[in-house]
Amino acid sequence: MLSKKMEKSLNEQINTEFYSAYLYLSMAAYLEEKDLRRMGHWMQKHFQEETQHAIKIYSYIIDRRGKIRLNPIREVPIDWKSPLHVFEEMLRHEQQVTTAINKLYNQAEAERDHATAIMLEDFINEQVEEESTIGLHCYPSQVS
Ligand SMILES: [Fe+2]
Ligand SMILES: [Fe+2]
Repeated sequence: MLSKKMEKSLNEQINTEFYSAYLYLSMAAYLEEKDLRRMGHWMQKHFQEETQHAIKIYSYIIDRRGKIRLNPIREVPIDWKSPLHVFEEMLRHEQQVTTAINKLYNQAEAERDHATAIMLEDFINEQVEEESTIGLHCYPSQVS
């Protein structure tokens, strides 16, 4: 069984993943409104990936016989200063998500909840990848 505390934290992470999905869909719309269709589609792919992250945690909670609690998703911005600003904000958001995942992992370790810690390892690896990919869009001069 999951501890009640871990169940709450994992449910909060589902909300964070859905917030990310919502944020990226809003960013996709902004880019597509500016006729940056390929960028918009790239962003839509990230929207889908974030919903998959949410579902992965959802399935994990169900497997551990925990309770799912879907809280309201907070409102997302609809405008940015420029397309570059979109990617800078996306990177900043992913860095916040990395902090949240690391905190969850620390909690799993503190509770000696090995199953949750192992489940989170994919998320830790994913964050490294995402921050790296998005960083390339923010600092294209670093691409050789
Ligand atoms: Fe995610
Ligand atoms: Fe992400």
